[in-house]
Amino acid sequence: AKSGQLVGKKVLITAGGTREALDPVRYLTNRSSGKMGYALAQAAVENGAHVFLITTVDRGDIFGVKKIQVDSTQDMYKETRRLFPDMDIFIGAAAVSDFKAAHLAEHKIKKQSDTGLILELTQNPDILKAVGYDKTEQQIVVGFAAETQNIVTYGQDKLAKKHADMLVVNDVGQADSGFSSDNNAVTILMPDHEPEALGKASKIEIARDIIKRISALK
Ligand code: C5P
Repeated sequence: AKSGQLVGKKVLITAGGTREALDPVRYLTNRSSGKMGYALAQAAVENGAHVFLITTVDRGDIFGVKKIQVDSTQDMYKETRRLFPDMDIFIGAAAVSDFKAAHLAEHKIKKQSDTGLILELTQNPDILKAVGYDKTEQQIVVGFAAETQNIVTYGQDKLAKKHADMLVVNDVGQADSGFSSDNNAVTILMPDHEPEALGKASKIEIARDIIKRISALK
């Protein structure tokens, strides 16, 4: 039988970098590998949870994890909104593009003879903020943030603005952690708690630590 603190709980996790199409062959994206989101999915399953992973990258299957493949922020937002009402916990580990093309070109954008190209971008919805504002008393919402300076100040600000119960701040300024790396160094922020730095560890170790802390909430 299953054991762990999350038995009977449904956990929704987003992972990877979103892709914003410009035309039929091109897109804007970022350096996210999805490793942290997959590590969180693994750690949540180890604790007995039923996991739904909305992801832009395929890093293989995890037993007990239902994967939902998406590309754009708009699709990730749509799937999150669809699934969130039935979830106990949401963890936004995806690197979401703040912007998308204002006009998706129907055909491949052609090179002009001697001019550059001006891309017009519009804002994407903020998925974490949307679920943070929507959550019920029973639901837990956790976000991530990558910062290079003033980690705690910027992080506390985001925690409050997005109505999150926990914000995991990545110190992307440190060598050998963050994007694509197998390691990470994070600081955990929660309302009315002192910031807690976890120190550099592998992403699976950090994921297990984060899941343990989430399980202890509420
Ligand atoms: O504001 P910032 O992008 O730094 O916040 C990061 C957190 O917000 C991450 O948890 C990320 O998944 C989430 N986010 C989001 N939708 C956006 C931008 C960020 O869900 N449009």
